[in-house]
Amino acid sequence: LHRSDEHQSLIIDLSQYQIYIGTAFLDRIRQLLQGHTAVIVIMDDNTQKFCLPLISPCLGDFHPIVIPPGEAHKNLDRCQKIWSEMVQAGADRHSIVINLGGGVIGDMGGFCAATYMRGIPFIQLPTTLLAQVDASIGGKLGIDFQGLKNYIGVFANPSAVFVVPDFLKSLPERQLRSGYAEVVKHALIGDPALWKKLKQIINPIEVATPELLVPTLEVKRKVVQSDPFEKGPRQVLNFGHTLGHAYESFYMPADEALLHGEAIAMGMAAALFLSVKKMNFSLEKCIDVMDYLQKVFNLRKIPSEDLSGILNFLKRDKKNVGNTINFTLLHDIGKPRIRVAVDPAEIEEAVVRYNDHCRNAE
Ligand SMILES: NC(=O)c1ccc[n+]([C@@H]2O[C@H](COP(=O)([O-])OP(=O)(O)OC[C@H]3O[C@@H](n4cnc5c(N)ncnc54)[C@H](O)[C@@H]3O)[C@@H](O)[C@H]2O)c1
Repeated sequence: LHRSDEHQSLIIDLSQYQIYIGTAFLDRIRQLLQGHTAVIVIMDDNTQKFCLPLISPCLGDFHPIVIPPGEAHKNLDRCQKIWSEMVQAGADRHSIVINLGGGVIGDMGGFCAATYMRGIPFIQLPTTLLAQVDASIGGKLGIDFQGLKNYIGVFANPSAVFVVPDFLKSLPERQLRSGYAEVVKHALIGDPALWKKLKQIINPIEVATPELLVPTLEVKRKVVQSDPFEKGPRQVLNFGHTLGHAYESFYMPADEALLHGEAIAMGMAAALFLSVKKMNFSLEKCIDVMDYLQKVFNLRKIPSEDLSGILNFLKRDKKNVGNTINFTLLHDIGKPRIRVAVDPAEIEEAVVRYNDHCRNAE
């Protein structure tokens, strides 16, 4: 980690590329674009409206590709349209792509760049909190396929990532809160000192400073550098995600579908009760984190009649081995353990305990 006194901003070095945190570094984009035959900027309607004006002074001439917002467009049809526009814009091996958007644009625009003419360089300019602290780092790119999330994709690193907290000012509050769940997750799995600082935060926009974003990103950097192709240790990042994904899928058709981070916050809370049971995690700390999650997130109670449907989704989790369901749990804050086999009765018990501590109505 280098401090740039001149800019009062920060750089995280992932050896193959850098993450620049703070507005002062935006000038570097101009340098990175030099010598490229065409600059393609992929964005959605919202990021074109709210984020492009902040960075257009650094871009020079560019070819915009604007897509409708939302996960529903993260698919192969849309990639074909993007590739076609790149061909029409005359993009060649010496061109460069800038992905200006949330995780949808980052994953899909990165995938389009990494496969166009066997791969051209791309820069990630994440504009949601989720993309800034999670999706834009680690090299996982891809799209959904036949209803299966992130089923087609590649690993490829960007030329650089620019984390600009100012982008978050226009992000809808619910999206911001959802992304904040990943910030809390990073603190719980990797940085007890960061967790102490986060406990003072009630409004997630307060996290939009280099002082808090840097340690959050550092947790993810360490994890992905130890396991770039997700062979094992990277599974610590699944903390809260085993149940979280099942909640997300189960409640998808409901009127009040959960956003990813909302489901992850609920999944983390239940994983804490499992950690108490299976890992000797302190009950006092579990309740402390649970109370915080309740203050910040809209933790819903899980009606008992929903449990069997949720368990069905859990049994289909890609990460299971045989009949056991694998969880990432905590020995302590900052001390995760991957692949803890948990049986359905233990999950039910954890969800009951979660419900007992949940103030919100069903
Ligand atoms: N590659 C990875 O490692 C990784 C990790 C986590 C998540 N993801 C992926 O990320 C995606 C979710 O990302 P997301 O939560 O950023 O969703 P998103 O990209 O759909 O963005 C959420 C919404 O916010 C809008 N928006 C974005 N930035 C804005 C801004 N600054 N101001 C106003 N509106 C703005 C978007 O238009 C969209 O409507 C999923 O597809 C998920 O699979 C990938």
